[in-house]
Amino acid sequence: MAKKKKHIAVLTSGGDCAGLNAAIRAVAHRAIEGYGWKVIGIVEGTRGLMERPLRYEELTLRIFTGAVLRMGGTILGTVNKGNPFAFPMPDGTVKDRSDDFVDGFKQLGLDALIGIGGDGSMKILGRLAEKGGIQFIGIPKTIDNDVAFTEFSVGFSTAMSVAVGALDCLQPTAASHGRVMILEVMGRDAGHIALNAGIAGGADVILIPEIPYNVDRVCDKIRRLQKSGRNHALVVCSEAIQFAGGKVSQTHVDGEVRYGGVGHILGEQIARETGAETRVTVLGHVQRGGSPNGRDRLLASAFGVAAVDLIAAGKTQRMVAWQHRDVVDVPLDEVVTRCSTVDVNGALVRTARGLGICVGD
Ligand code: F6P
Repeated sequence: MAKKKKHIAVLTSGGDCAGLNAAIRAVAHRAIEGYGWKVIGIVEGTRGLMERPLRYEELTLRIFTGAVLRMGGTILGTVNKGNPFAFPMPDGTVKDRSDDFVDGFKQLGLDALIGIGGDGSMKILGRLAEKGGIQFIGIPKTIDNDVAFTEFSVGFSTAMSVAVGALDCLQPTAASHGRVMILEVMGRDAGHIALNAGIAGGADVILIPEIPYNVDRVCDKIRRLQKSGRNHALVVCSEAIQFAGGKVSQTHVDGEVRYGGVGHILGEQIARETGAETRVTVLGHVQRGGSPNGRDRLLASAFGVAAVDLIAAGKTQRMVAWQHRDVVDVPLDEVVTRCSTVDVNGALVRTARGLGICVGD
């Protein structure tokens, strides 16, 4: 009897980033061209399978003829709230709607699922897959680069390049006006974007959540620069750095707590203590929305192909990862118990210190 053609689904989950479309494209190419399977794109992450009518579209190679590889965002849409296990209902209660997801998956007659997401999404998707007996492979993506067991997640490299580009734009205007420029970048509780971009973009001060900062040390550095004759300085800070009052966050109308705004506090502190004129740029979602750079396209492509190959090999509850110049796969249950933050004794912190950059301590 002829072997049944597999029908696999792919979805993007959590905050978007550059390179998601490149990953979707790679999944489609490998599954359709390599194995002759059918690929279904689920719309808006887990939502597409929870809602009725179900929201999905078949992904044919015609969709990927040229532009998609280069496009930011995700052609499938995504959500970063609405956990199916604790779904917020209109009446203010939360409901376990995981059965809706599993039922939706079964209704479509799917054989396997590839989920492109960060650590939070991996946890939820892995749990849903376990509940529904669904063959599942994860592809790590996040500008924060905090997914464990992978050196790089899709989207990080582009976000870092955007932050370097911002520093390149800030330096000349800082020098023209003799100002201290503060650039606040995203990254949640991991300082990878700030540290990488700060070094590559010639920052004088880099503040990351992993190293509690002492404002006196920061101001000492600015004063030393002033004494040496430099009329300007570049400061990069992660959105979740800890100042004396804790981390700066806001609760939005949807009840979600998001970081942001600490750059302004820092700017005022520096201005008050050093007399320098300060200006603050909060880079925000600019880091997420652009076209993926070459490295992210490459990583997304390698991950997409490997994820499909793992499905073909009958593997489940694994995540593809980049380690030592290669794609490997790691157990999802281990990935979700860890978070990869900056190693405060690692090469990049040592590099920053070696360059004379103040890291806040
Ligand atoms: O996790 C990615 C990320 O961009 C964080 O760096 C940031 O704190 C958060 O998402 C912003 O989320 P939202 O898209 O909900 O504003």
